Amino acid sequence: MLLGDLSRADYAKSLPPVFARLCGKLKNLDLVNLPLGWQDLEEGVRMNVMEFETSPAEDKKAEMHRKFIDIQLLISGEEMIEYGLSEPDLTLFDEYRDEDDYQLTDAIEDKNELILQPNMFAIFLPYEPHKPGNTVSGQNKLLKKLVVKVPVSYL
Ligand code: CU
Repeated sequence: MLLGDLSRADYAKSLPPVFARLCGKLKNLDLVNLPLGWQDLEEGVRMNVMEFETSPAEDKKAEMHRKFIDIQLLISGEEMIEYGLSEPDLTLFDEYRDEDDYQLTDAIEDKNELILQPNMFAIFLPYEPHKPGNTVSGQNKLLKKLVVKVPVSYL
């Protein structure tokens, strides 16, 4: 998991080149006015722009991917994301959907939490479970965010 803030002049300094390049493209977009839905960030790299209300973490499952890395960038609002970095026990997950590249679990082992403010991004690598879209300090709020799906072969 990598965490950063596009507002910083030096945000790209310690990022692997592929993430520095893609985050540079994100930084050049008019994020607040981006249309919702799936679109190309560049050829071969898709992103999904979403707007929804945060909800309590307890009500949701966590997701995990194998073939794509997520760059999750918050555009407006605030968002708590739960995640885990210990090696996942696959018996605690449901079946892997190869077509859509995800599987779900009820519980993230050795769970951590992070809070995104606008312009902050979290990068989840394959086999790192994460549960985005959670309420911060007990209040559900509307947020706008995007998720870039980066093929692992880009690493
Ligand atoms: Cu994900």
